[in-house]
Amino acid sequence: MAQLWGGRFTKETDKLVYQFNASISFDQRFFHQDIEGSIAHVVMLEKQGILTKQEKDDIVKGLTGIREDVDNGILQITEEYEDIHSFVEANLIDRIGDAGKKLHTGRSRNDQVALDMRLYTRQEVVHTEELLKELLDTLLAMMEEHIDTYMPGFTHLQKAQPVTLAHHLGAYFEMFKRDLLRMQDIYKRMNFCPLGAGALAGTTYPLDRGYTASLLGFEGPTLNSMDSVSDRDYLIEYLAAASTIMMHLSRFSEEIIIWNSNEYRFVEIDDAYSTGSSIMPQKKNPDIAELVRGKTGRVYGALMSLLTTMKGIPLAYNKDMQEDKELTFDAIDTVKGCLALFEGMLKTMKFREDVMAKSAMNGFTNATDAADYLVNKGVPFRDAHSIIGKLVLYCIDKGCSIDELSLDELKSISPVFEQDIYDAISLKTCVEKRLTVGAPGQDAMRKVIEINKSFLEKLAK
Ligand code: ARG
Repeated sequence: MAQLWGGRFTKETDKLVYQFNASISFDQRFFHQDIEGSIAHVVMLEKQGILTKQEKDDIVKGLTGIREDVDNGILQITEEYEDIHSFVEANLIDRIGDAGKKLHTGRSRNDQVALDMRLYTRQEVVHTEELLKELLDTLLAMMEEHIDTYMPGFTHLQKAQPVTLAHHLGAYFEMFKRDLLRMQDIYKRMNFCPLGAGALAGTTYPLDRGYTASLLGFEGPTLNSMDSVSDRDYLIEYLAAASTIMMHLSRFSEEIIIWNSNEYRFVEIDDAYSTGSSIMPQKKNPDIAELVRGKTGRVYGALMSLLTTMKGIPLAYNKDMQEDKELTFDAIDTVKGCLALFEGMLKTMKFREDVMAKSAMNGFTNATDAADYLVNKGVPFRDAHSIIGKLVLYCIDKGCSIDELSLDELKSISPVFEQDIYDAISLKTCVEKRLTVGAPGQDAMRKVIEINKSFLEKLAK
């Protein structure tokens, strides 16, 4: 058992207590951030005349040596240390002797852990953003390809009006775009450095917190030392944004599962992204989409868990906060894994354009357009609605679609119908004419694709 705080104790810590309290099994994840933060801290201490140049050089050399040895597998991070901070400090003292004992001058593990977690999460915010960007690139390329691929649009999972695949994918593009913007917002808000807050009340050493912050790429120091050591808002924000990403991925997964079903056959998921059954030889299952949908629960769970952990904590640091780590790490791994896999599945999926177009043609998806046709001929909309309603009933009875009726049959329901009705309610016209901003009509769609293209280009800069 290697602890940093034995001085005021007369007994050894109970073994179970030690294990219950220890965090090294999971906080070793931010080993690199711990080293990086410590280096910035000692560089600042020297600049302020709190450490000599020699001491600073020895500590920096010791810390980089530890980092190298761990990275090369020469040194193992083991559970004999309470946490990653103890591991680094103990190893530093072993290596460089007394100078190592000065590393923690003007610092507490409370501001240290607040810094490490923030540095780690900041890096993961960027990774999440990159994965979202890749997904958006893929989606936009698919949208460009499928501007003329017709499919039914649904409400209540009932066929409603015809759209295009580009338009349907475009809905998800907007969702993931908002997710990406949320990552950028979180980054901006969290990018302040808590180091120098001490245990809770700052320190009497003349630290230059602004300098440490700038060494670590932060906008500046945090402005209240009690808040600095006990703020986990940025994690809650990340988990909320991650939950929203998962909700979007889960909805998309659900649609792909439906589209991939034997009944729909709109898509075929690639063999590389499907799995089989141990008993039913014919099966090819959409397990990846199902797992993404399933894992959504875990990420929501992490958000609820941390919100609940934080709700009763008095200022400032309390050990409850150690609970922020495992669940956040799990959520980060889950959302990143799901984003990457989902993108691969999407890229390799085949769309059965013929099946989709055929499906768009039945189910009376052109009924609204038929009513609009009558409106254009002077029939008030409410009357037109009722006429087409009767027409649909007639068709259901006969087992055909509106466009399969003869002009005489149409005229028997309303004399307003002319030969041009057939063109007015063709699948092509129904889509092409929907030209309001954000609608599926090809010209409208092209404009949106251009806007989103320049959005992605700006991100690349
Ligand atoms: N392992 C602790 C955590 O994750 C580090 C901070 C310990 N501070 C303390 N006062 N015990 O929160």
